Amino acid sequence: MRTNIVHIGAGELTYEIRNIVRIAEKIRDLGIPVKMENIGDPVAKGEIIPVWMKKIVSELVLENSSYGYCPTQGVLETRKYLADFNNRKGGAQISPDDIIFFNGLGDAITKVYTFLNRTARVITPSPTYTTHSSSEAAHAGLPPVCYPLDPFNNWYPDIDELRKRVKYNPAVAGILLINPDNPTGAVFPAKVLSDIVSIAKDFNLFIIADEIYQNLIFNGAQTVSLSEVIGDVPAISMKGISKEIPWPGSRCGWIEVYNADKDPLFEKYIGTILNAKMVEVCSTTLPQIAIPRLFEHPEYPLSLKKRQQRYERFSKIAYERLKQIPGVILNKPQGAFYMGVVFEEGVLNHRQHLPIKSKEVRELVEQLTASSAVTLDKRFVYYLLASTGICVVPLTSFSSELNGFRMTLLEPDEAKFRENIDILAESIKDYIHSSKEIDNAGENTFFTNQFLEWAKNYN
Ligand SMILES: Cc1ncc(COP(=O)(O)O)c(C=O)c1O
Repeated sequence: MRTNIVHIGAGELTYEIRNIVRIAEKIRDLGIPVKMENIGDPVAKGEIIPVWMKKIVSELVLENSSYGYCPTQGVLETRKYLADFNNRKGGAQISPDDIIFFNGLGDAITKVYTFLNRTARVITPSPTYTTHSSSEAAHAGLPPVCYPLDPFNNWYPDIDELRKRVKYNPAVAGILLINPDNPTGAVFPAKVLSDIVSIAKDFNLFIIADEIYQNLIFNGAQTVSLSEVIGDVPAISMKGISKEIPWPGSRCGWIEVYNADKDPLFEKYIGTILNAKMVEVCSTTLPQIAIPRLFEHPEYPLSLKKRQQRYERFSKIAYERLKQIPGVILNKPQGAFYMGVVFEEGVLNHRQHLPIKSKEVRELVEQLTASSAVTLDKRFVYYLLASTGICVVPLTSFSSELNGFRMTLLEPDEAKFRENIDILAESIKDYIHSSKEIDNAGENTFFTNQFLEWAKNYN
């Protein structure tokens, strides 16, 4: 090329949730039946869309207006409906003009970061949903700036650490939070949200809250939406129907902008995002028209409740089974439909393995894991996939230094879910113990460390 055509942030764009599918497909082609526990798509996992929902959509298919462009910001009636819905909560008040529709939140996320000044950074949680961290890092052409979620404290953010990182990094202009969270399944209490808002207020930052899972909460978790605690801090809340209805194929999500008029730079920034959407014309029309009809249908609350109850039940099954495994750090999921499983430091090493019957599959996995640059959790995930067909996503792929994995609670068949969890639990134990003989021979690993710790106390 006459000049370098590669984007400054090209190296930052990774999406392991789908990358792992390529490996899973190879393994499937080699004859291993694969159980996809990686992608957060309830429909792909067999969720049956109720007939009343399908009727609403099929009625819209017969309406002429569904086939046209809609206003750039989105269908006005729907924006009015959503603004009213928000305003009834009594927090930050918005008008339909404060809402912009996108082709799924994925589209919103990339635009929100792309049109941010290159030197301005948004600090993201770690671990976090990769579309945020990758898009943010790509916009800056630098690795993500992160704050830790603490697996020893319900995956809540370490607020002191966040404050410190904001204070000592003047490039940070915004804070991202995801509530309920992907990949951890955490739900943050109102206090955590208001602590984050205080930091934003103290340092003159804006907030991005991804609230796409806002109505998928269970196990008694309590939270509030960002609009209820935001006060006068400029913020963007991201919402959508991919998870809740669930209708991910609609490619329909929206942002709600709070306090746009409180800061001229923020107002201009939002204006740029809107202009970018205008250049593109608009987002998908039909799903936007469907939103009020879906949310207001008398059967909707029950549909949602049934799914919440199922995720709650499955979260307990997974939690009770996996928490017994030494070396594993676990929190019972409280929202969304994920569980983040962490391996204690030192538990994993580069010599562990699981039995793989097929020679070709074994060779493939050995080749994939040959480099010591392969993270330890990715190594575990490849062996798990090859040995059992269960496909999960390594936690280090979620912009995290913690080794672990994310699994979903989406399998609708309880018997199958229990079976998968049993296989997973046994595989974790077998994998951890597979290098024990070598460890016992004196290698510096988890078990040796545990023994030394014990011996120290004993002395
Ligand atoms: C936290 C979070 N935000 C956004 C999205 C993207 O949603 P959409 O289907 O609207 O692009 C996902 C999808 O998994 C997600 O988990």
